Amino acid sequence: MPRTGVSVRNRTVLAAMTNKQSEEDGTLSDDEINWLLMRAEGGFGIVTTAASHIHTSGKSWEGEMGVWGDHQIPRLKELAEGIRLRGATSLVQIFHGGLRAPRSLTGEKPVSASTNLEKGVEEECRELSDSEIRELAVSFGEAAERCERAGFDGVEVHGAHGYLICQFLGTRTNRREDRWGGGLEGRSLFLREVLREIRSRTSEGFLVCVRISPEHDVGVTMADSLDLAGMMSDWGMDLLHISCWDAFTGAQGDPDDPRTITRRFREALGNDVPIISTGAVWDGEDAQFVLDEGADLVGVARVAIAHSNWASEVGAEGYSPERPPFTPEHLIEQGLSQTFVDYMRRWKGFVTDGRL
Ligand SMILES: Cc1cc2nc3c(=O)[nH]c(=O)nc-3n(C[C@H](O)[C@H](O)[C@H](O)COP(=O)(O)O)c2cc1C
Repeated sequence: MPRTGVSVRNRTVLAAMTNKQSEEDGTLSDDEINWLLMRAEGGFGIVTTAASHIHTSGKSWEGEMGVWGDHQIPRLKELAEGIRLRGATSLVQIFHGGLRAPRSLTGEKPVSASTNLEKGVEEECRELSDSEIRELAVSFGEAAERCERAGFDGVEVHGAHGYLICQFLGTRTNRREDRWGGGLEGRSLFLREVLREIRSRTSEGFLVCVRISPEHDVGVTMADSLDLAGMMSDWGMDLLHISCWDAFTGAQGDPDDPRTITRRFREALGNDVPIISTGAVWDGEDAQFVLDEGADLVGVARVAIAHSNWASEVGAEGYSPERPPFTPEHLIEQGLSQTFVDYMRRWKGFVTDGRL
């Protein structure tokens, strides 16, 4: 990576995957460490943890990993050391759920950029005050510092998928009239502050990746995301991760533009910023396509659940890993616990006895 000098052993990335295996207090469990170490052993260049909350008010699911307290450091160290020993680069994905962090888990009314009531949430959230926004940016910085102390190579700031940072970026969920809202500059100020706090608390060699959704129904558009990506390289971002869901299509908001999302980011950014692109990659040909579109690294999630050695095997001519649905026995063999298999039963068509 240009600024940090970190070099990654190959172009494969295990994308962040929530797996519900952490303890009640956010501490990593044996099962969660085991699942990630198997992927490091399986050859991934970068191994990213599940989304991990940086403050107790940001927890979105049961069994969610946390990086908000020093009690979490010993197990984080075990994971970081294990990933390093196996030759991979390690990132912790740090996030806050915002309006998607329910009171039933946090004991607090959910918070966001503005008052919002979204589909599927328990209650309307409240708008954060100016000082609370500053404090949360500091919590992101402190969490990153904790990850560095535990021995991770970097963090991935989760600005995608409709969680707090994305809620600030979206015109629909951020209707603020103060400095944290308005045009793209205002809506991205929270993310800018988060990056500033991380940079001020971590060393020069610590990798800072940012994951965004190029388009999202909270009011994030492709045009804004392309501009944002350019701005972020001036704010201390080392690596951009675009979460495409389907890396083979163009932007939904611009049906007349035939270019893939990856190609549009590459063309807008030039060659200065390394890009990870993720979404619907399964075999070697898919991965090569995404690289040819201009990504420096290819992220995968679902295929790596079923094939822990994907990264080692994907370079082989004609590699074509088996597709879902998978039996629970196969998934357990691949290092998933019963809890994780149960979670995967909710993903359409993934487990033979799960949701169809
Ligand atoms: C079980 C599961 C959990 C996920 N959890 C996260 C997460 O914690 N953070 C995140 O940014 N994306 C998460 N995602 C999205 C993936 O990182 C990835 O972007 C998406 O699955 C598309 O890639 P794929 O087609 O290779 O699965 C999750 C996906 C799956 C399947």
